[in-house]
Amino acid sequence: MSNSKTNQKEEIKDQELEKEIEKNLIEEEKESQKENEIEKESQKETENDPNKKKKLPKMTLFRQKAHMNPLSLRQMDFNLPLRPQDMNWKETYPNMKQGEHIDFADIGCGYGGLLFKLSEMFPDNYSIGLEIRKKVCNYVKEKIIALRHNEKGKYLNVSALQTNAMRTLPHLFAKSQLSKIFFLFPDPEFKKRKIKWRIISQELLAEYAYFMKSGGIIYTITDVYKLHSWMKGHLEEHPLFTELTKEEYQNDPLINVISTESEEAKRVEKNGGTKFLACFKRK
Ligand SMILES: C[S@@+](CC[C@H](N)C(=O)[O-])C[C@H]1O[C@@H](n2cnc3c(N)ncnc32)[C@H](O)[C@@H]1O
Repeated sequence: MSNSKTNQKEEIKDQELEKEIEKNLIEEEKESQKENEIEKESQKETENDPNKKKKLPKMTLFRQKAHMNPLSLRQMDFNLPLRPQDMNWKETYPNMKQGEHIDFADIGCGYGGLLFKLSEMFPDNYSIGLEIRKKVCNYVKEKIIALRHNEKGKYLNVSALQTNAMRTLPHLFAKSQLSKIFFLFPDPEFKKRKIKWRIISQELLAEYAYFMKSGGIIYTITDVYKLHSWMKGHLEEHPLFTELTKEEYQNDPLINVISTESEEAKRVEKNGGTKFLACFKRK
């Protein structure tokens, strides 16, 4: 088959997939509205009595079909300000002082397991989880609200934003701002035509490098060996990154954290899967 025919066929498949995703999104939105009503009712109790503990959100109520198309403009966040300095982070991080900024980004944070650990381990750093799936991100936001209410003064340095990290980082971060970026168990995108959906590529690494401080670290982990080779290969190839030394791997407390704290890490652990990690420093 000629290249142009294959491309046409792939485009049609992509369009069909997008239509299906769009349909699912509308259904999920309706479902989520119903669930939110139930959740709001139960949260009313704590509003009447601020000393009463808030219930943590139930993950089962925030399930959402995996695999949104990150190349689709429909996933774009058009309400983000054009420049990162115009973002009102004070709304999200009430204690953030003038001159402070987000230090750590968990890209594709899912249900946020890593974020809560980062908040505890690094009380003086601000972390953000970026998640493309709205319902999943809402779960993290609800959990943050509940934890902030239940454990006064804690979890004020963590937040989540529903966004497509492949498209919106320039709206969120400034040059040399981030000291850690995490890619924990990213979607493997096995199909050849979906490889461009992968969150690590030479182009995206150039972007990540721009937002990172010199000495900052990119953490990657997956249970899919093929994806591990892909991510590691791209990082090795990129002139602005170098792999951690053996000692650096041994001395970094986050190596254990990324292998154990996220929901996917726990799932892989439970199923007896193997985890492959690769961590690279920004030169
Ligand atoms: C397999 S899950 C892993 C979640 C989490 N990191 C963990 O370890 O539990 C991958 C997550 O990345 C999210 N994701 C995929 N592409 C994304 C993108 N372009 N921007 C933001 N999130 C994305 C997916 O919605 C999904 O929640």
